[in-house]
Amino acid sequence: MSSRRPAAVTAVVVLAAGEGTRMQSATPKVLHAIGGRTLIGHAVAAARGLAPEHLVVVVRHGRDAVVAHLAEQAPDALIADQDEVPGTAQATRCGLAALAASADLAPLVGTVVVTYGDVPLLTVGTLARVVAEHEQAGNAVTVLTSEPADPGAYGRIVRDTKGGVVAIVERRDATTEQVTIREINTGIYAFDGEFLTKALEQVGTDNAAGEAYLTDVVALARADGRAVGAVLLADALEAEGVNDRVQLAALGRVLRDRTLRRWMLAGVTVVDPETTWIDVDVKLSTDVTLLPGVHLAGRTTIASGASVGPDCTLVDCELGAGATVIRSHATGAVLAAGASAGPFAYLRPGTRLGSGGRIGAYVETKDAVIGAGTKVPHLSYVGDAEIGAGSNIGAGTIFANYDGVAKHRIVVGDQVRVGSDTVLVAPVTIGDGAYTAAGSVIATDVPPGALGVGRARQRNIDGWVARKRAGSAAAQAAQAAQAAQAADAGAPPATSEGQGQ
Ligand code: UD1
Ligand code: CA
Repeated sequence: MSSRRPAAVTAVVVLAAGEGTRMQSATPKVLHAIGGRTLIGHAVAAARGLAPEHLVVVVRHGRDAVVAHLAEQAPDALIADQDEVPGTAQATRCGLAALAASADLAPLVGTVVVTYGDVPLLTVGTLARVVAEHEQAGNAVTVLTSEPADPGAYGRIVRDTKGGVVAIVERRDATTEQVTIREINTGIYAFDGEFLTKALEQVGTDNAAGEAYLTDVVALARADGRAVGAVLLADALEAEGVNDRVQLAALGRVLRDRTLRRWMLAGVTVVDPETTWIDVDVKLSTDVTLLPGVHLAGRTTIASGASVGPDCTLVDCELGAGATVIRSHATGAVLAAGASAGPFAYLRPGTRLGSGGRIGAYVETKDAVIGAGTKVPHLSYVGDAEIGAGSNIGAGTIFANYDGVAKHRIVVGDQVRVGSDTVLVAPVTIGDGAYTAAGSVIATDVPPGALGVGRARQRNIDGWVARKRAGSAAAQAAQAAQAAQAADAGAPPATSEGQGQ
């Protein structure tokens, strides 16, 4: 049929129009995620790995949400809308029609691959194997098959006495004998584009489901004297689809294990694989250590020698070499080399901690650029701020940046010592080398090298307890202390032996 075969795969058509009712979800099935990537995102990533000339995604149920997601994640994908006629053959027809309408592809030649939007573990390597076998053998159809423990409702692969594939029979259309066949259709295929276009015209809906079956194309190829091939997938899980949330979690665990294995073989220590979760787009270096209970999400990147955990979640964070994070939650934070955070730090987007810097226990930060070697060791909130190098922010310091209407910035210089329990009221600037007194409310700028004091002067009211709390335990303790002081004043100085324990 087709003498001209382009080197690259002509198109990958991802079928994603199915309803997915068993998910019991307001979210379309293919927008559920494992490993930090949606199911359709995984399908598109595998398809892209083949570097096809065209990438088509067929949609219908939850169309608008899926299309919006693809516009962000796969703007190169061509969207094909499936009409009301159900079935995988109809979905494929709609995909090819959209392709023909968008590109000058009449007739459609070369290899066309069909995959599913809800099969997240399929690898590029497997797709490439199907394509290579298909093209080498000059097949009209090459189907990816597997032999799962339970062939369930999958289509059965029917072979002739010579082992050639003659048909795919759906479970509900199968004879009692065919039901016992263990080899099943994964639903992933490579087709000769020209053959597929013609064969789809002949596919009807005369079957138990009343749907247009893409699987009918196999028997049509044989009837036409064309070659049909099969590639058997050793790991049946790779082609498993997600139909409900039990399967979503099960495949999520398989993906997690794969990702962990990949990183461990690349030199990352994972102390407890059972409680460690790493999204597929995370990047780690050699000699990173992950302690139990760590979740690395989004586009988190961690440099060599860094240690995370126990019990941390890092979303879209960047950790420099040798940085450490202990028992903390961080989103969009950047820690330079040797910086540390936690335990119990809450780092929000825009946090940037310089090399060797420290964010300690019960500290929350947001939009805070903190210089090298600077420490915020205890119980503080630092937001909309810029702090220089080598400064120390005392325990219990609050950067008050919100006046109820707008947020203002606070700038703290290099080598500053902010006393404990300080409120810095924005907008305010503390100059290089300045100090602030503990317990101050600092609302006006402190010049370099000055001491800012912003608190009421203390006064002591002598004898207040004896007058106002007469007879209380406090009054008795005070009286005893005063008597001892008076006795000390009259007595000779105590000897050193007398002070021993
Ligand atoms: C199909 C195959 C079956 C195979 C199984 C593997 C057919 C007739 N049967 O089963 O041999 O073992 O896949 O999982 O092809 N879809 C659409 N539009 C539709 C119908 C389906 O886009 O009208 C998409 C779904 O979103 C899904 C995929 O096609 O991604 C498979 O649909 P599903 O209904 O799960 O497959 P079956 O037809 O039951
Ligand atoms: Ca399915």
